[in-house]
Amino acid sequence: MKVAKTVASFRVWRKCLSGRVVFVPTMGALHRGHAELIRSARAVAGRTGSVVVSLFVNPAQFGPKEDFAAYPRPWRKDLAVCRAAGTDAVFLPAAEEMYFPDRSTTVGESLLSDSLCGRSRPGHFCGVCTVVAKLFHVVQPTHAVFGEKDWQQLAIIRRMVRDLNFPVEVFGHPTVREPDGLAASSRNACLSPAERAAAPLLYAALQQAASSNASPPVIVARAKKSLGKIPLARVDYVEAVDAESLRPLKNRQASGRLAAAVFFGRTRLIDNIPLPATHARI
Ligand code: PAJ
Repeated sequence: MKVAKTVASFRVWRKCLSGRVVFVPTMGALHRGHAELIRSARAVAGRTGSVVVSLFVNPAQFGPKEDFAAYPRPWRKDLAVCRAAGTDAVFLPAAEEMYFPDRSTTVGESLLSDSLCGRSRPGHFCGVCTVVAKLFHVVQPTHAVFGEKDWQQLAIIRRMVRDLNFPVEVFGHPTVREPDGLAASSRNACLSPAERAAAPLLYAALQQAASSNASPPVIVARAKKSLGKIPLARVDYVEAVDAESLRPLKNRQASGRLAAAVFFGRTRLIDNIPLPATHARI
């Protein structure tokens, strides 16, 4: 497995490739969810293609009061996870390699980025789009895999790829969960034992609320009520949105997502589930 720490050394390796290059961008602290994304990238690449993983904690997507400095960076363990899941090359740049001190160019998406997580984290998705655009330019993938756990991110990346004509096919991978239903996340390790015990109730509340053909506002009200009862939890948002446009879902004629963000102490967890169309327009 090639490990490239600079753009120049990655490019030398990339030049020798033909065939599919399937890319999984990450911020490291790899868990079961990331490992499954890499394995599915391996399947897309097949025997003749290549799988590339990036490990980069992107400062541009953290707010001033967020956990950038504290974000875990267990690179040695991460490299072992990448190797075991079938990675051919890891791109592991330093922050100085990715960002010039006098940088003045960003990539921003302006329609899907301000709702849901974007409302609580201003500038976050501009940081995500900028780094993903840069990584796409360095890695030059033919395909890329993103997790449905970050549904808004996936929708925004799809939009960016379409709008800016990146020659990349984007795949969404279903959310990988712990046996108790909690979505796998690097931030789960930050939960206290009591918070960890309560955290699976986030997914349970979404599932229970969505388990009928009720209208989106009724489902959201139900979810709010159950999320409000979770011990140690503070609800940031819960919303039903159109799966693609991320606009508030008014009825069940189009497929949607029920999405929520909940604080357990200082740790913010997000999750979302499908709200299938039950009254499809004919
Ligand atoms: P990170 O949080 O490390 O996630 C990397 C990829 O793993 C994302 O596509 C995310 O959706 C996916 N992922 C994380 N947990 C998952 C789970 N439980 N099930 C399925 N997929 C999961 O997302 C980022 O990093 C960054 O924003 C990045 C795109 C790398 C840009 O910096």
